[in-house]
Amino acid sequence: MPTAPLTSSEIAVLHQRATEAAQNSYSPYSHFRVGAAILLHADERQAGEVVRGTNIENASYRLTTCAEQAAIAAAVSFYGPAIRIRAVAVVNLNGAACMPCGACRQTILEFSSAETAVFYPSGAGEIVSTTLGALLPAAFRLKPE
Ligand code: THU
Repeated sequence: MPTAPLTSSEIAVLHQRATEAAQNSYSPYSHFRVGAAILLHADERQAGEVVRGTNIENASYRLTTCAEQAAIAAAVSFYGPAIRIRAVAVVNLNGAACMPCGACRQTILEFSSAETAVFYPSGAGEIVSTTLGALLPAAFRLKPE
């Protein structure tokens, strides 16, 4: 899905929404407060929307939902199964590195392409800008592209 490059204001809004989401983090076990925001591709019905999510932990630890997965669940719930993701930003309030985990990369791919932009903190005070294709080469697919 070819689109114009992201503008600095689109990237700033993504980070702002992700940071707002992180403030709602339910993380009583790890205390690692993560937020994610996804920018959806515009279609004929709506402009590119930004949807956010946060991590939601569980006393049965493996039932934890990552912030990226929460954002995608919200986006599909609001906008339906045809959503496509143009960009993802992940942040945390712990000043740590926070790249999407392997499971989140595969979940993002479900609604993305290799060109989808991904931003995450390096942990050294910088934001890494990359693509899903770089983060998840040789991704699992049911059908070859
Ligand atoms: N976490 C996320 O929300 N996203 C990721 O991509 C990696 C990890 C959360 C899950 C858990 O609540 C906390 O970070 C520590 O692993």
